[in-house]
Amino acid sequence: MEFTKLGEGKTKEVYSFDEQHVLLKFKDTVTAGDGAKVDVIKDKGVINAQTSALFFRALEREGIKTHYVGMYDERTMIAKRLKMVPVEVVLRNLATGSIVKRLPIKEGEVFDPPIVEFFLKDDARHDPMLNYHHMEFLKLMTRKEAEQVEEVMVRANKVLKGLVERMGLVLYDFKLEFGRLGDELIIGDEISLDSMRVRDREGRIYDKDLYRKGQPLEVVASSYAEFLERLKRVV
Ligand SMILES: Nc1ncnc2c1ncn2[C@@H]1O[C@H](COP(=O)(O)OP(=O)(O)OP(=O)(O)O)[C@@H](O)[C@H]1O
Ligand SMILES: [Mg+2]
Repeated sequence: MEFTKLGEGKTKEVYSFDEQHVLLKFKDTVTAGDGAKVDVIKDKGVINAQTSALFFRALEREGIKTHYVGMYDERTMIAKRLKMVPVEVVLRNLATGSIVKRLPIKEGEVFDPPIVEFFLKDDARHDPMLNYHHMEFLKLMTRKEAEQVEEVMVRANKVLKGLVERMGLVLYDFKLEFGRLGDELIIGDEISLDSMRVRDREGRIYDKDLYRKGQPLEVVASSYAEFLERLKRVV
């Protein structure tokens, strides 16, 4: 690309588009275990870019601010340039994943209201959980900002959960990352099957847990593609 590369993570490259915007190019890599496991799935980047775009547009329609501006090409998003906060914010509707290992909570238990958690993006430390005190001390966000972020998570959940339900599926949990634009914190990064857990009512898994659990890459690929096709029909 003719743009200056600003950085690169495990699944996306970031380029400078103009003063206020970046390009996020979604790669075909799939990773798990804080980057310990890495593979390539052809066109996974295209699918995740398009899935993210549909979810971001749906949030914007409901008045929830995101970095999404438009698509530059099939795997590259034009986004508002944010000063990213290295925190992963997780909302859980149903228990699975790390929470059932950490706490005496059983797989599939329902959280009503949902549980919101904060984790430091730090692969070497395996993304430790944060509370308001940690985030203030580490100058990540103030308590007031953290409370605002929690409200955005709950509003975003209503939209995302609603869409997933219309697809006949169940949204177990999802992760968002936020960044600063002036003095506001808005949703950045991506919203895809890499960052949410979705199953059907019989327990069939659609998301990156397929890869985490060692399913063949073709199974992961076809699940991501099927999810995008079904999402297109409900947005
Ligand atoms: N709107 C945005 N403006 C600027 N940077 C962004 C924006 N949205 C996402 N990013 C950044 O893009 C980078 C690449 O994303 P990717 O998901 O590949 O990173 P990662 O592997 O999760 O890890 P890391 O954030 O540690 O690089 C991330 O650093 C992310 O914070
Ligand atoms: Mg990432």
